[in-house]
Amino acid sequence: MTEHALLEVDDLTVEFPGVRALDSVRFDVLPGEVHALVGENGAGKSTLLKVLGGVHRPSSGEVRLAGERYRPRRPADALAAGIAVIYQEFNLYPDLTVAENVFSGREPYSAASRGIRYAEINRRTSELFAVLGVTVDPTAPVGSLTVSEQQLVEICKALSVDGRIIVMDEPTAALSADEVAQLLDVVKRLREEGRSVIYVSHRLDEVFALADRVTVLRDGRHIRTCDIAGTDPDGLVRLMVGRDVESVFHRDQVGEGATVLELAGVNAGRRLRDVSLTVRAGEVVGIGGIAGAGQPELSQVIFGALPIDSGTMTLDGRPFRPRHPGDAMARGIGFLHEDRKAAGNLPDLSIRHNLTISILDRIRTGLKLLAPAKENDVYADYHRRLTVKATGPDQLIGTLSGGNQQKVLLGRALAPGGRLLLLNEPTRGVDIGAKAEIHRLINALTADGAAVLMVSSDLPELLGVSDRVYVLAGGEIVAHLAGVDRTEENVVACATTGRRIFSEELSAR
Ligand SMILES: Nc1ncnc2c1ncn2[C@@H]1O[C@H](COP(=O)(O)OP(=O)(O)OP(=O)(O)O)[C@@H](O)[C@H]1O
Ligand SMILES: [Mg+2]
Repeated sequence: MTEHALLEVDDLTVEFPGVRALDSVRFDVLPGEVHALVGENGAGKSTLLKVLGGVHRPSSGEVRLAGERYRPRRPADALAAGIAVIYQEFNLYPDLTVAENVFSGREPYSAASRGIRYAEINRRTSELFAVLGVTVDPTAPVGSLTVSEQQLVEICKALSVDGRIIVMDEPTAALSADEVAQLLDVVKRLREEGRSVIYVSHRLDEVFALADRVTVLRDGRHIRTCDIAGTDPDGLVRLMVGRDVESVFHRDQVGEGATVLELAGVNAGRRLRDVSLTVRAGEVVGIGGIAGAGQPELSQVIFGALPIDSGTMTLDGRPFRPRHPGDAMARGIGFLHEDRKAAGNLPDLSIRHNLTISILDRIRTGLKLLAPAKENDVYADYHRRLTVKATGPDQLIGTLSGGNQQKVLLGRALAPGGRLLLLNEPTRGVDIGAKAEIHRLINALTADGAAVLMVSSDLPELLGVSDRVYVLAGGEIVAHLAGVDRTEENVVACATTGRRIFSEELSAR
């Protein structure tokens, strides 16, 4: 153990039925350091954080905080000890204000008026945000904030209890590039304040920009802790996966298929304006742009989840106007939601049920009962295509690691038949090895003639995996990038500066 460690984790083991999530893990955190925790999906990162946060009890081993045995029995114990864990699913009350959330359970009362001292909590909340170098209105209801602002509220809450150790689980997974930059600044401020931060991320650029030290977990075991200065991204990846990984995408050349989907002059609500695009069989068409430019709305329109006001859509040359997702799925369209937490999975159902929920009609028996044998066929097919770290089809999806949940949902998107796939952020929260696996799957599907429309905020992925890219800005298509125009610079310039580029489609329609 390093001398003067603030937190020491000693031989920690956590077992769940059928899985050893952590196996004799040792690591420590120094005062005032940013300590990154990395590893593939299912490596045990979140489990470790949940032990620190008082959610899970270890099967064996111990944790010491400032030299004293630390055994939280519930989340409140962790907070009281100065350890604030910020999970991906925030613990906020959407109907309460920012300040009420920050001080919830600890509101100062006024004996005179027998109420919460609102002026005081609002003022103190503003002061805490000032320490972080950001401004958020303390009187706004939390439900009206963006994801990144909600995260700042969680961090503010951690400061308000004087958290000595602030723990963040994939904090940037759902943030835009600007919001990520802001969060990295906030983390640096926390370190300047002398606080320690444990930072879990799959994005190694962030790890290298922020961390003082990094710990690698693999399959529940501690692989190495080292100074960030003493390692490089390739070295870290090798430690994470235990082998070399190709970081470049391989997109197989595809032939030109018939047009599968065509949108002409589509307007929808205030979010999509005059959108025209095509997707052909065997093609991956990417959609780029900054967050909030209309990306989710575009795929919702095609999936029948959002009505169009004007314009036309055709599918396989026939008019297409889905009234609800059932219509779209009946025509072989699969959909992957960009936020698996909010609208994607059903945590209390098994993997098998999560996979087949979109095709219930096809796996029912004559009596409208579910046919387990058919469900198992779907599971077997899916398991063949994507390796999921699970104990079997009956494991509840809520107990899978984040990246493995994503693979199940991708499997669900394939279930309608894979004529056209609408994939929103297909590799969000997915580790490097699984990312390559998902990219290979996309290649294989298009080689079989599927058409893919992919929204991705990960630029290397957007450009590496797509054959052509459309850029959205303010709900409008401001660029079509093919051939030599298809560069990161052009995507960023068109998304942010109003520049317009329309490449000719290289091949005949
Ligand atoms: N409540 C639970 N019940 C059963 N198994 C669990 C539970 N929580 C986690 N596991 C299992 O423990 C292992 C580690 O999961 P964990 O969530 O810690 O991984 P992770 O490193 O955070 O992965 P990711 O990067 O995908 O989020 C996985 O195999 C997971 O399925
Ligand atoms: Mg996790």
